Amino acid sequence: APLAGVIGWPIAHSRSPNLHGHWLKRYGIPGHYIPMPVHPDDLAEVLRILPRAGFVGLNVTIPHKEAVLALADIVTDRAALIGAANTLIFRPDGKIHADNTDGYGFIANLRQSAPDWDPSDGPTALIGAGGAARGVVAALLDAGTTELRITNRTRVRAEYIRAEFGARVVVYDWAQAGNMLDGARTVVNATSQGMEGKPPLRIPLDALDPRALVTDLVYTPLITPFLAEAQARGNPTVDGLGMLIYQAVPGFERWFSRRPETDEAARAAALGEG
Ligand code: ATR
Repeated sequence: APLAGVIGWPIAHSRSPNLHGHWLKRYGIPGHYIPMPVHPDDLAEVLRILPRAGFVGLNVTIPHKEAVLALADIVTDRAALIGAANTLIFRPDGKIHADNTDGYGFIANLRQSAPDWDPSDGPTALIGAGGAARGVVAALLDAGTTELRITNRTRVRAEYIRAEFGARVVVYDWAQAGNMLDGARTVVNATSQGMEGKPPLRIPLDALDPRALVTDLVYTPLITPFLAEAQARGNPTVDGLGMLIYQAVPGFERWFSRRPETDEAARAAALGEG
């Protein structure tokens, strides 16, 4: 039976085992998907050994997403651009293939959840410039957003993204985050604010275009205070759980030769209700 799994340190919080486990069971695939806590000092050794122990690939989470690039034999363009990988494929010839499917997951979820959404309708306003934000920047530019406005509490991280991704990226000061929404047709929270146990994201929505699609990468809770506020103004919103599900699709398909479904049953499974 083919084996796959997810490595991180720690790993207990990962939703991926629920989701992949659901798909394996649903399609009657005699494989296993295993969460594995791997200390950073052991990463290289683990990646060398697992392919010899029946593993066909892995998902990679914090803190290994950057480090795996240096250990992979083949790195996709999008993973190189983002500077991080979340999906590894152990090829039969022994080579390790590293990809980043976060941006794909982000875009696929928006297209599926909001069929009328067109990134080329106008600017995108992105709040946050951490690892999660980097994954969606490349995808949004690629999808044709006319301008990518970005703000971050620590401004220099947004400046780095501009330096790397080019002139369509415009940095706004954190104190000006509300102004950044003026005319934006897509608004994304990529900070950790609004997550259970953390304070809500506080951005004044007065300038929000009523047509703007508002989405949050946080999915615990599913409706963050930020999404609730946008909904109260009548804006369309998309929650962050779909991105988690769609980013998992390319890996599952490669490892187990079956394109998995991204429906309500998959959502329930990811939430641990499946
Ligand atoms: P991730 O991989 O989830 O993006 P990260 O790289 O640590 O994790 O980024 C967390 C994001 O949430 C960053 O944009 C961070 O802003 P800073 O770069 O200034 O740290 C943002 N964030 C975290 N706590 C915040 C807070 N209290 N107020 C505003 N932004 C916050």
